[in-house]
Amino acid sequence: MCGIVGYVGPRNATEVVVGGLQRLEYRGYDSAGIAIYDGEAGLQLRRSVGKLINLVNRLNREPAAGAVGIGHTRWATHGGVTEENAHPHRDASGKIVVIQNGIVENYLELKGRLIELGYTFHSQTDTEVIAHLVGHYYTEEGALEPALCRAMAELRGGNAVVALCVDEPDTILAARLGNAGGVVLGLGEGEHFVASDIPAILDYTRDLIFLEDRELARINRNGIVITTLAGAPVRREPVRIQWDPVAAAKGDHKHFMQKEIFEQPRALMDVLRGRIDQEAGTIHLEDLKLDDAALRGIERIYATACGTAWHAALVTKFIIESLARVRVEVDYASEFRYRGPILGNDALLLAISQSGETVDTLAAMEEARSQGVPSVAIVNAIGSQAARLADGGPIYLHAGPEIGVASTKAFTSMIVAGYLFALRLAQARGTLSPAEIRTHIQALLELPGKAAEVIETTSSQCEILAERYHRATDALYLGRQVNYPIALEGALKLKEISYIHAEGYPAGEMKHGPIALIDENLPVICIAPRDSIYDKMISNIEQVKARHGQVIAIGSAGDDFLASKADDTIFIPETLPLLQPVLVSIPLQIFAYHVALLRGCDVDQPRNLAKSVTVE
Ligand code: AGP
Repeated sequence: MCGIVGYVGPRNATEVVVGGLQRLEYRGYDSAGIAIYDGEAGLQLRRSVGKLINLVNRLNREPAAGAVGIGHTRWATHGGVTEENAHPHRDASGKIVVIQNGIVENYLELKGRLIELGYTFHSQTDTEVIAHLVGHYYTEEGALEPALCRAMAELRGGNAVVALCVDEPDTILAARLGNAGGVVLGLGEGEHFVASDIPAILDYTRDLIFLEDRELARINRNGIVITTLAGAPVRREPVRIQWDPVAAAKGDHKHFMQKEIFEQPRALMDVLRGRIDQEAGTIHLEDLKLDDAALRGIERIYATACGTAWHAALVTKFIIESLARVRVEVDYASEFRYRGPILGNDALLLAISQSGETVDTLAAMEEARSQGVPSVAIVNAIGSQAARLADGGPIYLHAGPEIGVASTKAFTSMIVAGYLFALRLAQARGTLSPAEIRTHIQALLELPGKAAEVIETTSSQCEILAERYHRATDALYLGRQVNYPIALEGALKLKEISYIHAEGYPAGEMKHGPIALIDENLPVICIAPRDSIYDKMISNIEQVKARHGQVIAIGSAGDDFLASKADDTIFIPETLPLLQPVLVSIPLQIFAYHVALLRGCDVDQPRNLAKSVTVE
């Protein structure tokens, strides 16, 4: 969740590092800091509480320049939001600075030992423990690399650590343990980079190497050398990233979230691109490593994810069970490994993650691997942990960088990716004929255009509804069947960016409790497209109205009967029932976006949240 950037080369390291941190600010923003080394000025440390702009202002007052530097934006785990707790942290000698992403689970034990050795601490962070541990071993080893390796060997928990030492000023070291946020190494001409995520260094290089668990990188002007923490050499070919840096910028949108909502028609095209043969009625998933025989051998799928991705997993369950007739169980990734799952040898784990770095989702994949069960990852970030952990291969969303903390285009793309996987399973297992697959392909091909139509026809209505309801203290979202997860997703969108308490519920459950919440102040969003349980939704709406609730219905275009029952109705185009969630989600995203704006909330960087949760 924290942002890490490091640079060695001929440029002003401060500009490169701060610029990179700005690209990563969405990962966490409680404090920020940099350490820049210059032959004359020595090691210059600048740290500030709050958003990155505070560090930029500090640097304007107290400039720091040099050719080597590391920087960090923090999402607080251990210790409050204070300057003392901001990274980088120094060792006792002041020669070594360290930045970190992750959690040292045994930091208190290590801290106690270091205090007994006479070390004094100035922060409550686990990171400072790493700094003193490295510094302690540096006094014995006389070199940073062995000192860092010895320190890393004592840490428990997923951690990415970057260190710089004034005695070896042209070198930055980066080390990695477990599934903590990624460590991306950038290859330049006479300059090299390290970062926790790709956008930080994409302005300078597209040739990247991803550090793996228990590996260390030695980074200087001449190149990058990778070894294991035990010292064994590692050879890894660079990956060339095709992302356009502009794509990761806001363009002419006010917020990344707005840009990403509007990008959905293009994203839905990109997730389909090259994967469907309409004439043959077949699906091709280029990175899938499971052949037809393997796909036929799967009798049970465990879909696991967190947050919005978990909602996509719930939708994917309906899709796979309906189209491929394979049983799907859905677990929160944070619960999965702790429930002692008995997976069986005919199982497959389906991990879903935008970032591919969510530690709980990665741990679920590790759990499956430990039971000999293959995993497939529906993932957006190219080359991310999840993509590389998936021995059954990744199914990339190709949605481009999603910067807004509230996931939008990745979510709808996840559903379509899940649909493609379900069709691929159905193709291998013969549960759908090519002609039937062609019908689904046709609906998929029409989806981007329908998504564009939804954006076009509902945006201003959602803005008006946001104006009407933005002062609400609570909200209830109701849906049934494949749209029940969309009720959950709509509620999550509203709560995470506007801070209104919102709950999603299966509509049939309303009378078992939530109906007590309903009064004239409660907006109730009811998802009621024309489908097999439409009549049930109508009666739920009538139950809400009988208690004076305010009903915003999401329904099929032209459904005047629904409009006669609800206070407001947002119409969306018809599509196959299992694709409805994609179109229903869009007005719920737009509604939440405008409510948050009207409430003066920080839409792209909501309080307490981070884009990628790489700690438990
Ligand atoms: C989505 O709006 C949230 N920001 C959050 O729930 C997110 O979906 C969750 O943290 C999972 O992230 P991932 O898709 O990168 O694994």
